[in-house]
Amino acid sequence: MRPAVALIAGSGLGGLAERIEVVRRDSMDEVLGVSAPAVGGQARELLVGSWAGVPVLVFLGRYHLYQGLPAAEVAAPVRALHGSGARVLVVTNAAGGLDQRLQPGDLMLINDHLFLPGLAGQSPLIPPRMPGPVEFVSMRDAYDPQLRELTRRAAAELGISLYEGVYAMVAGPSFETAAELRMLRLLGAHAVGMSTAPEVVMARAVGLRVLGLSVITNRAVPEEATVPSHEEVLEAGKRASPLLARLIERVLPALAA
Ligand code: HPA
Repeated sequence: MRPAVALIAGSGLGGLAERIEVVRRDSMDEVLGVSAPAVGGQARELLVGSWAGVPVLVFLGRYHLYQGLPAAEVAAPVRALHGSGARVLVVTNAAGGLDQRLQPGDLMLINDHLFLPGLAGQSPLIPPRMPGPVEFVSMRDAYDPQLRELTRRAAAELGISLYEGVYAMVAGPSFETAAELRMLRLLGAHAVGMSTAPEVVMARAVGLRVLGLSVITNRAVPEEATVPSHEEVLEAGKRASPLLARLIERVLPALAA
């Protein structure tokens, strides 16, 4: 069964797997030949199956820069999709909400990202990527406008309020200082997290269309003294999983069309 859509389930979002009719389950590390330290709450399994009648390939968990991996390895799951038949990549993540309006449990449709060397390290396109010449990849409209429109419509049909904004990636694993949060806001970010951007760069390099969704797991507001913990992020992700699953399930057939 060739997948039409690939999906990456972020921290605490493993519950998405419950909706999938799984026909095959493998270890991501084994299939991709990546070895990385374990991170609590992240299974790193590769599922093949179907969801809402759509053949899907799902990465339950991902690799992070904070595990000491080069960006090219962080993006290895997406590079492996080249030639798989998948045309769309749905990336999900847990993120802190920089915008005052965002509350834990909210969903944010990602319309762009900030991923600069100063914020998060290196590009996944810096070799070793693939044999062959360096490619200069356009990242304009990397978060596909048409797929965003389909998702906005699906959310409206379900009565799910969906924020939309810019995701800033930092390397982590330290959470941001108040000054860093103020800086990210000044730069135009609405949410901040430790993943996603390398995978989206790789997705564009291999020609996949991208839909990005953040689950806001905590407030990341510099005026407030709230400091997230990894456990809190996982818990909030778990609680928001069913809502995210409903939205993805609704839009999946249109993504595969
Ligand atoms: N900062 C960075 N990464 C995160 C956060 C945060 O507040 N929440 C979830 N991932």
